[in-house]
Amino acid sequence: MFDQNRLFYVLFGLVVIFQTSSCHKTIKNYGAYCANDTARGDPNLIPIDESQPRFINKVENGTLYQIGAGEDQVWLIHVYGNTGYDFGYAYGTLLRDQINKVLPRAWAHFEEEILKELKNLKLPKWFVDFVVDKGLSFALDIQNDLVKKYMDEEVYNEMRGIADAAQVDYKTVIRLHMLGEITRGRCSLYGLWGNATLGGKTLQLRALDWDVDGGLQDYPVITIYHPLTSKLGHPFANVAWAGYIGTLTGMSSLRLGISEIGVSFPDDTFGDESMAGLPFIFVERHILQFSETLDDALSFIANVRRTCHLILGVADGKLGTARMVQYSHSIVNFFDDQNLQPLADWHPRIPHAIYSGMDWLCPSRQYKLYKAITDQYGQITPELSIKNITSVVKTGDLHVGVYDLTDNIMYVANARGTNEQGPMEAYKRQFVKVDLNVEFARTR
Ligand SMILES: *[C@@H]1O[C@H](CO)[C@@H](O)[C@H](O)[C@H]1NC(C)=O
Ligand SMILES: *[C@@H]1O[C@H](CO)[C@@H](O)[C@H](O)[C@H]1NC(C)=O
Ligand SMILES: *[C@@H]1O[C@H](CO)[C@@H](O)[C@H](O)[C@H]1NC(C)=O
Ligand SMILES: *[C@@H]1O[C@H](CO)[C@@H](O)[C@H](O)[C@H]1NC(C)=O
Repeated sequence: MFDQNRLFYVLFGLVVIFQTSSCHKTIKNYGAYCANDTARGDPNLIPIDESQPRFINKVENGTLYQIGAGEDQVWLIHVYGNTGYDFGYAYGTLLRDQINKVLPRAWAHFEEEILKELKNLKLPKWFVDFVVDKGLSFALDIQNDLVKKYMDEEVYNEMRGIADAAQVDYKTVIRLHMLGEITRGRCSLYGLWGNATLGGKTLQLRALDWDVDGGLQDYPVITIYHPLTSKLGHPFANVAWAGYIGTLTGMSSLRLGISEIGVSFPDDTFGDESMAGLPFIFVERHILQFSETLDDALSFIANVRRTCHLILGVADGKLGTARMVQYSHSIVNFFDDQNLQPLADWHPRIPHAIYSGMDWLCPSRQYKLYKAITDQYGQITPELSIKNITSVVKTGDLHVGVYDLTDNIMYVANARGTNEQGPMEAYKRQFVKVDLNVEFARTR
């Protein structure tokens, strides 16, 4: 809703943004994490669940399935549409109960955490002042005003469809999608191809280490989007939680995969940050939804108005290669296996591989991932990665996605939900196998 007061704050915010060089950092200080955590975890020996999705429910523009077994089940939803609203309305109808459980709890949790950790977040002062004076909701609404003009209108329409169908507050749905820019997780990624993998497959890892206390993992959702018009791009799969439509993890029907790491320990090559631009979760989503090739994806990243310090991974199963991107508001650098950065004895280059463990300047975690890849070089499959890479490196507590971009198959695990048994971290739990050849071909 437009008002004069709001406009003043937006303009004020814009002025202040360019006087600050950093926008926001992860909640906790992971210094010790990067310096000292050299212990290896145990292999994950739980067999991968390969069962077929089970039909649950159907509406005009969507079908809901569950996939996986016992406590490690995941909702698998197909949505079809000519508009973002069609997608959102089907999603909100089929997942109404789940959304109504996730949203209030996640919101209350993140609000409490952010208020508690406000000083450690290194947000611009104007933003912190808004949070303190007027509350987090108000501050996130201002942030939404700053990003609105860079967003795809259909994404808002999709959120509105979700809010209408699930009968939740539209503004709360939007605010939840602004949190990623403030509370970026530390995470790990790799892209492996050619000599690095068994049979020369193109594989990608997305290990998400984010907040496991917000209850997001109680309702994990894989969404398969089926646009009925080319205006909405091509089919793609997004891995998230009930009510969350930004992309942190996913694969497209053109066999592109995406992964991301929030940077808390940059070096001076990173440049500036800004809160005015396309939030990174929608940069990633755009790539899955619209990019046809690796080149498309990289030129989108080069030209979009970027925001935060990040590392992105983009892999292409058609070309059989991957790139890593050093990403901020003011700079962007693209790396392959020949020029990967940062170049250090704790982060050496590996032929036919790009990788990053937990952060940019994160010696112990970077080196652990390096060792896990090189010790098993040439033998790596999705199964081996699940068994003896993520579990040993100990990365991916909230969720892990392993993408086989050659065969179009995705493997996913989630953190332990409320009242569930077994280990907390996703990388220690059972993975489910999702055959995207089958899922992308399912018709309404
Ligand atoms: C790493 O561990 C050593 C020995 O336990 C300790 O003295 C040092 O402060 C730790 N470093 C960090 C960054 O936590
Ligand atoms: C389903 O999608 C079609 C477009 O393909 C749209 O015209 C229709 O209104 C949608 N139905 C519902 C219930 O959202
Ligand atoms: C890949 O392996 C082949 C066969 O061993 C070798 O000739 C080639 O140099 C390797 N390529 C790279 C980039 O390591
Ligand atoms: C895991 O990899 C290590 C080498 O990094 C190897 O020594 C060990 O045997 C592997 N374990 C399993 C269960 O594959």
